[in-house]
Amino acid sequence: MQDLPIPRIGRRDLFPRLQARAYLSHAAISPPSLLVERAVQEALSDYATLGVGAFPLWAERREQLRGALGRLLQVAPSLVAVTPGTTHSITQLAFGLPWRRGERVVLFRGEFPANVTPWQRAAEHFDLELDWLPLPPCRREEGASPEDPSGFVLEHLERCLRRGARLVAVSAVQFQTGLRMPLTAMAELCHRYGAELAVDGIQACGAVPLAVGDAKIDYLACGAHKWLLGVEGVGFTYVRKERAAALVPRLAGWLSHEAGEAFLVEGSGHLRYDRPFKPAPACFEGSSSNVLGLAALQASVGMLLELGVESIFDHIQGYLDLLEAGLTELGCHSVRARHPESRSCILSVQLPEGASGGAVIARLRQAGVAVSHPDGLVRFAPHFSNDLDEIPFVLEQTRRALRP
Ligand SMILES: Cc1ncc(COP(=O)(O)O)c(C=O)c1O
Repeated sequence: MQDLPIPRIGRRDLFPRLQARAYLSHAAISPPSLLVERAVQEALSDYATLGVGAFPLWAERREQLRGALGRLLQVAPSLVAVTPGTTHSITQLAFGLPWRRGERVVLFRGEFPANVTPWQRAAEHFDLELDWLPLPPCRREEGASPEDPSGFVLEHLERCLRRGARLVAVSAVQFQTGLRMPLTAMAELCHRYGAELAVDGIQACGAVPLAVGDAKIDYLACGAHKWLLGVEGVGFTYVRKERAAALVPRLAGWLSHEAGEAFLVEGSGHLRYDRPFKPAPACFEGSSSNVLGLAALQASVGMLLELGVESIFDHIQGYLDLLEAGLTELGCHSVRARHPESRSCILSVQLPEGASGGAVIARLRQAGVAVSHPDGLVRFAPHFSNDLDEIPFVLEQTRRALRP
């Protein structure tokens, strides 16, 4: 097999076909690296040559992927299940909790809808109440962002928890502003009031250090196609050990059962419909897996573990510090948190008065700067492969794109 370049921070040798000169859309969709392309090709090739004979090989690879995800999150692999992505994971959790009528779920205004819709559907189905909390003000018209936004969040959360709540759902990092939430303190507060914390991790996992076990997060859902550098349509669910027994596999499938595949491999007499369910989160892996997605994710997580998430995060902070200073000089208003613990790998800005976001984004893309435009902000989201040397180019193209 051909040797591939060694992954290195600040180098994009593993993304040779990427067209954009500065790819800053990792908070949207990441391009696959050569390692991912090779792993997907390997999976395809196994199935092309072996057919069903490839199944046990890739069942083993799924096991290995759980191990790698466990290392990434610093939790036991048995507490992780591979799923079709964030929304799917959140839906299974939202429909798997042992709800009682009238229980309250706390949501934040401004969250990505993937972390709202499933809870709304569960609220409708199980007759739950939704409580909405604000996120810290960070837009120009709402006042400057506070030095430590976590104080704002915790204050509102505690007031809400005092009224009684069963569960709080939040993203580890807010998709539009990049605000990193104080998850450890939020989990501690939730537990103090008898509530649980469910986290959408897709804007953090892979680039923002997140020791999920230490933070005592109860549930975490994540997809692969952003900071994990995998592909769309695969992700994972984490369930804290203490919470697993209470989950009900309401959205289950044939592989949610213990020995669910026995009738295919052990001869007659094993086709039954009353097998007990596997414990959560294993019961969430209810059907044949997305083998190409898991091949991609295994390759990318392996690379991220090798590079080290702490080192990746530090590199991106260095990049964003320089970029933020330059964009501010161009008249943009950064909504990045001032407090380092509230920062993530996203830098979003409001454009100067009169600039049209859509037009600026289009000009930037045309010029080879791939950025995204969530909720009216302009979002710059680099990863380990972005080189600090490209920052003057990004700033020059932004200056030109802002010209009337
Ligand atoms: C915070 C957040 N959650 C969820 C998603 C979508 O996840 P999935 O497509 O895996 O359901 C996104 C972005 O696409 C996001 O920014």
